[in-house]
Amino acid sequence: MSKIAYLNSRYVKFNEAKIHIEDRGLQFSDSVYEVISFYKLQLIDFEFHIKRLKYSLKELEIKYLVNQDKLKKIFNKIIKLNKLKNGIVYLQITRGVQPRDHSYKNNLIPNLIIYTMSKKFNLPNRNFKGKKAITYQDLRWKRRDIKTVSLLANVLAKKEAVRKNAYEAILIDKGKITEATASNVWIVKNNKLITHPTNTDILKGITRETIKRIIKTNKLQLNEKSFTVKQLYNADEVFITSSTNFVTPITKIDSIIINKGKIGNISLQLAKLYKSLFIDE
Ligand code: PDD
Repeated sequence: MSKIAYLNSRYVKFNEAKIHIEDRGLQFSDSVYEVISFYKLQLIDFEFHIKRLKYSLKELEIKYLVNQDKLKKIFNKIIKLNKLKNGIVYLQITRGVQPRDHSYKNNLIPNLIIYTMSKKFNLPNRNFKGKKAITYQDLRWKRRDIKTVSLLANVLAKKEAVRKNAYEAILIDKGKITEATASNVWIVKNNKLITHPTNTDILKGITRETIKRIIKTNKLQLNEKSFTVKQLYNADEVFITSSTNFVTPITKIDSIIINKGKIGNISLQLAKLYKSLFIDE
């Protein structure tokens, strides 16, 4: 059976799902998105993703009325149609189609795209892996709090990471770490956690917020404060969080080995606590 996508109000064969060449998402990145993971068919933090989707739409004045219940039904159905157990649902809403013009008309009909991808997650079990990262200049625009598909700076940074056999690129803006190309960045120093505060400089990660709640319940110490490259290199532990990476330890950055190349205790503890929210083993 061929893979299925959802386009506007129809389930269609993946290869037959088509978008107009004057769609503003294609021409201007005039479009928002969400990536929601599911594990054993269970959507992770679905409601929080929908809340952020509404925020992104509102900030860009894209007039798409989000129906949470309807989206949940579509998500569950498309996961079943594609016969997946673990993976991601990708959702994108573009402003719509109009003759090319930087300014947009107010009466456009947004395009809704939903499809799934299977994924093997980096979970804290026997195969739990620390990964390598590079640092890279943060070339992005100034509204990183909006989850838009305007991702060219992220794409270039990630390509450089891959070129250097690394998993992620950690972004530096004016000497400070903002986040990574597709994840939030955390460091641990003397048992205290530090991560960049949420403002327009970073995306307010859903996983970041969940980890913050875990930190609070487990009485760990967190400082939401920006940190320098030097602090990153000198950290006791470094890890990244995202819907696709969950909690993924970083054990090498550029030529610097973190924590003797081993996964740190706090990273491991948080990875296990995060996992326990949706896996009871
Ligand atoms: N990216 N920062 C950036 C720039 C991101 O693109 C992402 C997620 C995050 C983490 O957010 P969350 O915890 O809500 O997934 C932080 C997704 C996974 C992507 O683009 O594929």
